[in-house]
Amino acid sequence: MSNVLEVRDLYVGYYNKKKLFEPAQYKEVLKDITFDIRENEIMGLVGQSGCGKTTLSKAILGVIPYKSGDIKHMTTRPQMIFQDPYSSLNPVKKIGWILEEPLKVIGGYTKAERKDKAIWMLEKVGLSGDYYNRLPKELSGGQRQRISIGQALMQNPGFIIADEPVSALDVTVQAQIMDLLLELKEEMKLSYLFISHDIDVIYQMCDRVMVLNNGEIVEMGEVTQVLDNPKDSYTKMLVSL
Ligand SMILES: Nc1ncnc2c1ncn2[C@@H]1O[C@H](COP(=O)(O)OP(=O)(O)OP(=O)(O)O)[C@@H](O)[C@H]1O
Ligand SMILES: [Mg+2]
Repeated sequence: MSNVLEVRDLYVGYYNKKKLFEPAQYKEVLKDITFDIRENEIMGLVGQSGCGKTTLSKAILGVIPYKSGDIKHMTTRPQMIFQDPYSSLNPVKKIGWILEEPLKVIGGYTKAERKDKAIWMLEKVGLSGDYYNRLPKELSGGQRQRISIGQALMQNPGFIIADEPVSALDVTVQAQIMDLLLELKEEMKLSYLFISHDIDVIYQMCDRVMVLNNGEIVEMGEVTQVLDNPKDSYTKMLVSL
């Protein structure tokens, strides 16, 4: 089976400037991170708040620089889905515009082709063409998250990072969005890096999982193996919560 992503010996940190005339201090967040994500796989990432999950996502997508190591993408246009469906959509743009924007960036589509694809995508994410002319504020949190997912999929990515995609939603809506992500994964041949602090969500969604603690991967393997029979003390603590 081939990989969609390979990360090797990755170190990432931030330069924080405390005082104007002093040199910025480097703070290491991620140390020696090595893993692969395979084709059609959902890899989970768990770890407590502030341990560097979002930092890892941003480094993988090239939004922030990394200090050393290697990140190799085997797919084009990897995309990210964010936690908060209220702040991730441009509030003054209609849903149709939001979905078509990535196609304008890539170029090569006519206006009619963009609209056709946006309406097709609305149906794919369980909405309908009726939403094309609506504004984000007219949608519920779950519907907005469907739009965010659709927007990420407009460029036909092979790999998606979902950073706590259901944490802001209530339980029934959570289950619907998780089902949608699983369906789309099969239909569109996707792989996900799926971030959550909720062990139950990881259990339901993921094939494998890695556990991040103090900036390092302390455990990685099949979900059932890691969560049913944790070896690392930190994983044991997470599972017992
Ligand atoms: N832009 C930044 N500049 C400096 N430090 C940052 C920046 N972004 C994050 N950090 C720090 O890096 C560490 C990791 O943050 P990150 O957002 O990656 O954590 P996280 O695991 O995603 O947490 P959460 O579960 O709360 O989303 C934290 O200590 C945070 O304060
Ligand atoms: Mg985060």
